[in-house]
Amino acid sequence: MVEISVYDIFKEAQRRLAINAPGYRVRNAVSSDIDRVIEINLATLPEHYPRRFFEELLEEWGKAFYVAETPTGEVVGYIMTRVEIKPGFFKYFLVRSGHVVSIAVLENHRKRGLGYALMAYAMKSMYEDYKCGETYLEVRISNNPAIALYEKLGYKKVKVERGYYLDGEDAYIMARKLP
Ligand code: COA
Repeated sequence: MVEISVYDIFKEAQRRLAINAPGYRVRNAVSSDIDRVIEINLATLPEHYPRRFFEELLEEWGKAFYVAETPTGEVVGYIMTRVEIKPGFFKYFLVRSGHVVSIAVLENHRKRGLGYALMAYAMKSMYEDYKCGETYLEVRISNNPAIALYEKLGYKKVKVERGYYLDGEDAYIMARKLP
């Protein structure tokens, strides 16, 4: 089966934003966004990290670290990633894989295409800027909105990690080839 390509996803992201989130935009994060990104992370997800972790991802992999902002410039979502060299899910040898570490959109701004757009921008950067041949992520097996989003973006469940989360919940590992 042919997967939807990163370029088609990117075009579709623009289309969705134009219709459902006019005036919103996705842009690369800068260091002055970190406080707000941490705030959004605390408000939306049980997985939190020390400030240094956010800073390191921005320093090392900033081309694939994005924020989404409203027409008035309020940051309401983010995606952060890192590149890892690891055995491929689709190839037997080592590959450069773009790991989606965290993505979130504030509740009042969901269902308008921002999650899709953040993923589209990050996937394009993982491929173009960081030469990744694959991308993967972990997701709680109960997180249906996120699983639906990733499936729409061509990710497949490739593995279950038992007890992956601190509270004991299992994770799906989801992955796809790039581009
Ligand atoms: N139920 C089912 N599917 C949903 C959904 C929901 N509540 N919300 C999003 N989706 C899926 C749909 O397939 C949707 O496509 P559609 O509009 O054609 O139906 C697709 O995702 C894109 O939705 P979009 O509007 O771009 O997503 P969003 O901006 O609402 O953000 C999340 C999606 C997952 C980032 C958001 O729900 C969120 O921040 N959740 C809390 C944090 C989190 O769980 N992060 C992921 C951790 S792995």
